[in-house]
Amino acid sequence: MYKLLFSIVFRRISAETAHHLGFRLIRAIAAIPGVGWVLRRWLAPRDPVLRVRTLGLDLPGPLGLAAGFDKDARGADALGALGFAFVEIGTVTAQPQPGNPTPRLFRLVEDRALLNRMGFNNAGAAAAADRLRTRGRDRGVTVGVNIGKTKAVPEDEAVADYVASAKLLAEVAEYMVVNVSSPNTPGLRNLQAVEHLRPLLTGVCDALDAAGPRRVPLLVKIAPDLADEDIDAVADLALELQLDGIIATNTTISRNGLTTDPAQVEALGAGGVSGAPLKERSLAVLRRLRGRVGDRLVLVAVGGIETAEDAWARIQAGATLVQAYTGFIYGGPLWPRRIQRGLARLAHQAGYTSISQAIGSATSDGTGNR
Ligand SMILES: Cc1cc2nc3c(=O)[nH]c(=O)nc-3n(C[C@H](O)[C@H](O)[C@H](O)COP(=O)(O)O)c2cc1C
Repeated sequence: MYKLLFSIVFRRISAETAHHLGFRLIRAIAAIPGVGWVLRRWLAPRDPVLRVRTLGLDLPGPLGLAAGFDKDARGADALGALGFAFVEIGTVTAQPQPGNPTPRLFRLVEDRALLNRMGFNNAGAAAAADRLRTRGRDRGVTVGVNIGKTKAVPEDEAVADYVASAKLLAEVAEYMVVNVSSPNTPGLRNLQAVEHLRPLLTGVCDALDAAGPRRVPLLVKIAPDLADEDIDAVADLALELQLDGIIATNTTISRNGLTTDPAQVEALGAGGVSGAPLKERSLAVLRRLRGRVGDRLVLVAVGGIETAEDAWARIQAGATLVQAYTGFIYGGPLWPRRIQRGLARLAHQAGYTSISQAIGSATSDGTGNR
């Protein structure tokens, strides 16, 4: 049904228009009195084997929606009703900004991939905070907040810019992510270098500590294009600063391994590729991180997850949680339920009573359960 809708309607309109249309539809349906509740009963993970306790949160399953889908916190609860256990809103920047000129989002259907150069289009941290503060009574989902740098702010003022967002959003974030890995804000990924990342993460940590008695868990999101030594350096820094976790990975600037005609890809221009072509590298980055930090940090795997088996492989490689964006676009509204159910089946088959027992089970230090 969704495949038909995708090929008849969505494929014929621009990818960004399809996104807005689809998201509006999800929100409208979930807003019909009682329907959100029914959807949640039908689609949300309910098998106790899927329950994950991590980052001080109690989640009904390990699968969340990755950042970028709900940039302005307009519909986290509606997305939760589809079966995501948590939704990461953003990237939010301290100042509102329009993002890059359109078109800026493209489908690479043959590759089951997307190419985007959105450029953090969002209404700003204050607006996102207001929206999250006034969420309806029907709060069905855990919400993480992903923050990034305002484009107009020079790199040497980046710390203050992130700190401004952190202060505005601390009260409404169940966890927070410092995004230094999107390829579409000039210079942003330079912030992954330890000499820039240290003051940035320290500043955000301090802002969260000062924000109130509840300590908001803090994670950093990294790019798949980092060299292995740089992955190690970020991992070491995260341990040193006692961060809670690392999200791996964002989209890639690489165009390797695509089956779409290279001339066609080049004509689309700059941007980050997500989806199936990212699968192998994202898993490799996760393995590298796990090798470096063991179970001392929460690892969140994202990039090219399309099936329950993909998600299971990430958990076995050391991820406590998994996220997806592109798999959901191609898989449709019932996709989160399929993945959560598939994960429950795999956990039962392996003889586990909790999916957390599978964490890192395919690694030499297979300790499980962080
Ligand atoms: C259209 C689009 C917009 C995105 N925007 C953001 C963003 O604002 N912040 C961010 O951290 N990641 C963003 N991402 C990256 C995703 O969160 C995710 O890390 C990446 O797409 C890999 O996962 P996937 O293969 O499941 O899509 C975006 C991805 C897409 C496709």
